[in-house]
Amino acid sequence: MPLSLITPEEHKDLQSLNTLGFSAHAAYFCQPESIETCQQALEWARERTLPVFALGGGSNLILAADIPGLTLQMSNQQRDYQTQPDGSVLLTVGAGVVWHDLVMETAGKGLFGLENLALIPGRVGAAPVQNIGAYGTELADVLESVEVVRVIDGQRITLSQDECCFGYRDSIFKSETYQQCRENQSVITALVLRLQTKAEPKLGYGDLAAQLEGKALTPLAIAEAVCSIRRSKLPDPAEVGNAGSFFKNPVVPQARAEALKERYPDMPLYPAGAGFAKLAAGWLIQQCGFKGAKRGAVGVYPKQALVLVHFGNGVASELLELADEIVSEVERRFQVRLEREPQLIS
Ligand code: EPU
Repeated sequence: MPLSLITPEEHKDLQSLNTLGFSAHAAYFCQPESIETCQQALEWARERTLPVFALGGGSNLILAADIPGLTLQMSNQQRDYQTQPDGSVLLTVGAGVVWHDLVMETAGKGLFGLENLALIPGRVGAAPVQNIGAYGTELADVLESVEVVRVIDGQRITLSQDECCFGYRDSIFKSETYQQCRENQSVITALVLRLQTKAEPKLGYGDLAAQLEGKALTPLAIAEAVCSIRRSKLPDPAEVGNAGSFFKNPVVPQARAEALKERYPDMPLYPAGAGFAKLAAGWLIQQCGFKGAKRGAVGVYPKQALVLVHFGNGVASELLELADEIVSEVERRFQVRLEREPQLIS
């Protein structure tokens, strides 16, 4: 295909493409519908020595500044289901597919693996970046490999699950040291997932088992139960701007967690590997009195203190100021420093 077919839009307003709903512009913007057009777009940017930014569903992003260079939002929709001799199904899925649509599609086919991850906003291509997780499952549990195209030369590369270095809300794609090396900069174009026709449903987290009492434990029933719990606690970005959890749940040394637990017996505590425990950031923030707080155009969601919201017509700096206020107060009160989860463009 001749290069002239790639004509990125100039000065693209990203307000409707980020779930917090802040206004910012991409200098150039395009939505490749195939890996080949992605490669051509990268070549277009290389010829002009422009930096490249890969945008997913914009649901984990704080746009505090315009994005220079070419912003590329993969829009490829392919799905390829391959049944394996052991009965599992290998699914190759394009980065442009809406994550929740994929969850409902696979659950509707009776395949286990993604059902606990229903209603997470965003696109498939962004899922490995923060290793999306909810209700006792995370993407790394089902991910076989990630397909990327390198920015520097358009080469297609496959990263194995091990090479992605997944952790709690973490992966190699978030590592600054890794991304600073130009040879590593890449656009995620597809994921390969391993799904199961038979599986032990994971119902151990929170209210999930109670929601499903008396029901057949099909992937679809579980996904629907997860949707109903999420709808009751988390804001719909279509109604109020938000980026899901604004902070990670802090992981602290076990001794520190136990000292806090002694002082605050109601404090939720989760295991986090030998010698460590995970605290609930939402609980810490609520204890500091921020639940439902409002500061101009931004605030803390009244049903889940871990979620910061933008009511409209505000700017990212207001949200960052509120986040700083929360971090300082939680640190003053509990000597625990909260870490921001969404990616900041500043
Ligand atoms: N809690 C409070 N007050 C609050 C919020 C929570 O006391 O305002 C307490 C809850 O009562 C519970 C504990 O904190 O005892 C944990 O709360 P919850 O089950 O709502 O989950 P979370 O730890 O706040 C995490 C994920 C969510 C995910 C849920 C369910 C992170 C940063 N967040 O939240 O993920 O949906 O578990 O699995 O790990 C996201 O990443 O955007 C996200 C929404």
